[in-house]
Amino acid sequence: METNEKTKGNTSDTEQGIWFPKLSRRSFLTLAGWGLFFATIGAYLVQFFGYKGFFYPKVLYEPSPKFTVGTPNDFPVNSVTTLKTKKIFVVRDGNSFKAISVVCQHLGCAVEFSKEKNIYECPCHGSKYYRNGVNFAGPAPRPLYHYDMFLDDNGKLVVDTSKIVPLETELIV
Ligand code: FES
Repeated sequence: METNEKTKGNTSDTEQGIWFPKLSRRSFLTLAGWGLFFATIGAYLVQFFGYKGFFYPKVLYEPSPKFTVGTPNDFPVNSVTTLKTKKIFVVRDGNSFKAISVVCQHLGCAVEFSKEKNIYECPCHGSKYYRNGVNFAGPAPRPLYHYDMFLDDNGKLVVDTSKIVPLETELIV
């Protein structure tokens, strides 16, 4: 008798399942449906309120167009200094300073300053510009951009690439 009861008990445990109660197909589908429903709601909530969700400001974190390039003494008299990372030339003639863009006005390649020829040359299609940025050869349709430049309270030169100024503009220090 005892042996029979034990066997019965074991059989019953196996049928019911220890970890997962035996479910009817209807109950299983109902549970699965609710699970899917809450998972979907959760995914939407995460999308809406989570990191970089709906309320996260959609802004581009670009570097400021206004930046310091050093003190006037950092630039030798009568020189053209290329600041590659800032994409500008700082041109100093005596006490006059100019900030000129390195971006070619043809298709946007970076022009290079040739010390020997005292001009800017574009390696892409051969445009050439005088030292003051005015184009004189090649397909470039206009001069290089000149940017606003000023001295800040600490005596440092600041360039603002969001402000394009006329070619004759210069900062006298
Ligand atoms: S991009 Fe400079 S000449 Fe074409």
